[in-house]
Amino acid sequence: MALLAPSVLSADFARLGEEAAAAARGGARMLHVDVMDGHFVPNLTLGPDVTRCLRQATDLFLDCHLMVSRPDDFIAPFAAAGASAISVHVEASTHLHRSVQLMRDAGVRAGVVLNPATPIHVLDDILPDLDYVLLMSVNPGFAGQTFIPGVLDKVRTLAGRIAQRGLATIIEVDGGVTEANARALAEAGAGMLVAGSAVFGGGQAEDSARRLVRLMDGVGAEPSWVP
Ligand code: DX5
Ligand code: ZN
Repeated sequence: MALLAPSVLSADFARLGEEAAAAARGGARMLHVDVMDGHFVPNLTLGPDVTRCLRQATDLFLDCHLMVSRPDDFIAPFAAAGASAISVHVEASTHLHRSVQLMRDAGVRAGVVLNPATPIHVLDDILPDLDYVLLMSVNPGFAGQTFIPGVLDKVRTLAGRIAQRGLATIIEVDGGVTEANARALAEAGAGMLVAGSAVFGGGQAEDSARRLVRLMDGVGAEPSWVP
């Protein structure tokens, strides 16, 4: 079944360890770490130092989403800080195979992210080299935005292509995921669903995570590489 990836961007940064523990009690096996540089996206968030603190505070799988220009410069630092998986935007990486090779060299799971307006055919030549593809369902930069409905079909189409090619690539969806759309996304073929506000926004992270995890029960692809 699909896994919930609570985004710590919506957590209380002064209590990150407690927030991570609450998400874990609610059944989350991973956390999503949103890295923004104020250049690729119009917002600034966190870097390797906070990721290192998070790594010390939790055993959860850390999925680091790099929304930065020059992502190659940050792959090794995030891996050294304790990232379990790293994804870079296709719109930010000029030499995508090199980015993926850097992730392999660093020993992390390798992902590539597409903005909502980027078509999936740009992945045709790199799909077999990836552990996961992250489909953005909002324009990156902020938590709490509204899900772009057309992404549901994009998930279905990509899942079909992955199956056709006999690949095990996992689809992750990020942005505006709520209790209203989580199950449909998993049924469409997603294997990891990021949720920021829907987990941490209401101050009840454990209960919110548990409800979302239950909604995905029995549906969606499951990444075998997330413990
Ligand atoms: C958006 C980030 C998302 C965001 C998700 O740029 O990549 O991960 O934090 O937040 P919600 O779930 O609130 O849309
Ligand atoms: Zn994200």
